[in-house]
Amino acid sequence: MASVPGLRVVLLVSGSVLLTLLLGFGLPVLLNAGMWLLGIPETSVTECIVGLYLMFVVSVAMPRIPRGCIKVEGKAVLITGCDRGFGLGLAKHLHKLGFTVFAGCLLKDEGGEGAKELEEMRSERMKVLQMDVCSEEQTERAVESIRLNLGDTVLWAVVNNAGVASFGEVEFTSIDTYRQVYEVNLIGTIRITKAVLPLIRRAKGRVVNIASLYGRMGNIMRSSYCVSKYGVEAFSDCLRYEMKTWGVKVSVIEPGNFIQATGVLTRDIVTNTSLKLWAEAPPCVQEDYGKVHFEQQMALMRSFCSSGQKDMAPVLNDITDAVTSKWPYTRYSPAEPHWWIRAQFMTHLPSAVSDLLYF
Ligand SMILES: NC(=O)c1ccc[n+]([C@@H]2O[C@H](COP(=O)([O-])OP(=O)(O)OC[C@H]3O[C@@H](n4cnc5c(N)ncnc54)[C@H](OP(=O)(O)O)[C@@H]3O)[C@@H](O)[C@H]2O)c1
Ligand SMILES: *[C@@H]1O[C@H](CO)[C@@H](O)[C@H](O)[C@H]1NC(C)=O
Repeated sequence: MASVPGLRVVLLVSGSVLLTLLLGFGLPVLLNAGMWLLGIPETSVTECIVGLYLMFVVSVAMPRIPRGCIKVEGKAVLITGCDRGFGLGLAKHLHKLGFTVFAGCLLKDEGGEGAKELEEMRSERMKVLQMDVCSEEQTERAVESIRLNLGDTVLWAVVNNAGVASFGEVEFTSIDTYRQVYEVNLIGTIRITKAVLPLIRRAKGRVVNIASLYGRMGNIMRSSYCVSKYGVEAFSDCLRYEMKTWGVKVSVIEPGNFIQATGVLTRDIVTNTSLKLWAEAPPCVQEDYGKVHFEQQMALMRSFCSSGQKDMAPVLNDITDAVTSKWPYTRYSPAEPHWWIRAQFMTHLPSAVSDLLYF
């Protein structure tokens, strides 16, 4: 995050030199052996390497292959967490594309800004619903209202977007915090999905769950968030297998760092939360970790708030693709290159190697 320690640079450089040597000397030998086994002249090895390399370049650099678009007319979408951030942006975006949008807002009944903005559009196709994804009662009422308001449209997709951010080292995170984050991010996603699945199943529609790259890799200070987002990934995978026979496609969106685009975490929130974290930590944890270390970690979190992408368009475009493409992808990872590479390393390299690189 802040400065890159020398050790990491040395590891990265020696890692890439090793990889170059391996690919430069090891791969031809391996391919030669393979060719020899297959009885193909060994001179084809160069072509093989060029071919492999081309495949790699194509897979990394290719723009998305056009996969056709579904008809938007007569289709409705439910989005949760539309008070602000991705949810609010997506509600407006999908409405503009012609969908009927059911926008679930946590603060509709309290006169929240986002709900007001959407209601003031005064569109037949924009319906704002009071919806705390943690409330069974509000969910039931919202789904009833969707059923009554569908008219000639079908409920084509649900976008489980509502979520909260959290941070703090394990020993500074209370069981209550683990529960609260998990209640919204994971149980909320499961609750809403189950509530609307009968409608979506009959429309052979889509479930789109907003996880995070933190649903695929862990980090220090993010355990409560990672636990909830890994859960979203697991739920989405299992649901995808079950929904295959029903013709319902399930996609996961794994954004990298869009903190500045949505304001999900701000320096103020970090400062306020840090006071609470320190105050609630057991005395022995305060003593052993020390205030200096704690403040360093919080400074790191604050600097994290000023990093990341400022434009949420990549996330909205990926969600839109998952909702509208005839052949949506299973996973979308809108992220800056260094985040994407980190996620690739952490999910594909042996943990012993990725641990050395990043921790
Ligand atoms: N921004 C990023 O960098 C990033 C990266 C990866 C993943 N994500 C995920 O993307 C999703 C949207 O995040 P965002 O950045 O747009 O955050 P955001 O701006 O805070 O928006 C989240 C929305 O969810 C709402 N919400 C919170 N608890 C809720 C509940 N119990 N029921 C219904 N709605 C609730 C919030 O309401 P209030 O406004 O009242 O709090 C807010 O409107 C989240 O799932 C988040 O984890 C974000
Ligand atoms: C942080 O705490 C201060 C003082 O209690 C309060 O005025 C402010 O609104 C809080 N900020 C956030 C983002 O919660």
